[in-house]
Amino acid sequence: MQQKEAAEVEIIKLLKAARSGFISGQSISNGLGISRTAIWKHIKNLREMGYSIEASPSKGYRLADIAKAHFNEIEVSYNLSTEFVGRKIYFYPEIDSTNIKAFELGRSAAPEGTVIIADTQAKGKGRIGRKWESPAGVNLYTSVILRPDIPPQSAHNLTFVSAVAVAEAISLYSPVRPVVKWPNDILLDSKKVAGILMEMDSEIDRVHFVIAGIGVNLNMTEAMLPDFLRPIATSVCEKKGGAVNRAEFAGCLYASIEKWYKIYLDQGFTPVLDEWKRYFGSEGKRVRVVSFTNTFEGICMGVDSDGALLVKNSKGVVERVISGDVETLR
Ligand code: BTN
Repeated sequence: MQQKEAAEVEIIKLLKAARSGFISGQSISNGLGISRTAIWKHIKNLREMGYSIEASPSKGYRLADIAKAHFNEIEVSYNLSTEFVGRKIYFYPEIDSTNIKAFELGRSAAPEGTVIIADTQAKGKGRIGRKWESPAGVNLYTSVILRPDIPPQSAHNLTFVSAVAVAEAISLYSPVRPVVKWPNDILLDSKKVAGILMEMDSEIDRVHFVIAGIGVNLNMTEAMLPDFLRPIATSVCEKKGGAVNRAEFAGCLYASIEKWYKIYLDQGFTPVLDEWKRYFGSEGKRVRVVSFTNTFEGICMGVDSDGALLVKNSKGVVERVISGDVETLR
């Protein structure tokens, strides 16, 4: 499904502003500069999307289900406060993976800040070839296309930009402070609540685009988690004790991504890394590192100025880890 017409977003804005009251067709027509017939066509589309809109010949239109938490591109647009992230939305009720679609769109010159959102993913991709559980109706699965003018060696910095942004958005909803597990898993009470898969299209010396693929467990209850995930995963609603409005959360997330991405482009990596360290939970703790080349345990000494993990091994030598998986041991 492609981006909804801007007029439909504007009609929903007007109907919401009228609370559950009526708004006349004439004032919608005047406000949007479109004909009454065009309004009728948009109202029909909105009804097909699931909105309950009453029409009265004398009073106009009213949104009867104003309290219902719809999740679609219109609601996400309604919650946007950004300049460019989320200003172009591709929303899919079902998709294989938002990252796969983002790659396609990235290659066909989609503008920076384009976002892809799905209600459910059939082949949600996790890091290191894993699968990302993506049930319908509960969570946020989104990919953001960024086009930074940086060399490919620096693209790793965006892993930290996205981790900080996701942690910040979650902290607005969760009474429990999010913790970052190197490099970009987000945990609540030691269980994973969000994962980020960064992918890139580049030449040897030039980034074409970077995809930040973000999955946040928002309303998935513990009972909905598959058995193998129950001991290690959680959701924001489990901590908040109530449902999270997904479109509103997406609006907060895109605002945080834009904010930290701009800070990175304007001021460099240091402020991003400083913020990331405030969420980092493994410093001084015993960790197990599983990298492509070896597995070892040691004490986490923090990260260096590039964001590489520093781990003191059993021989007292500090190893620099640039990729892999890191578990904090108890
Ligand atoms: C991880 O393994 O922690 C990363 C998980 C990333 C999942 C998200 S969901 C939206 C986007 N599309 C995908 O297929 N994966 C990412």
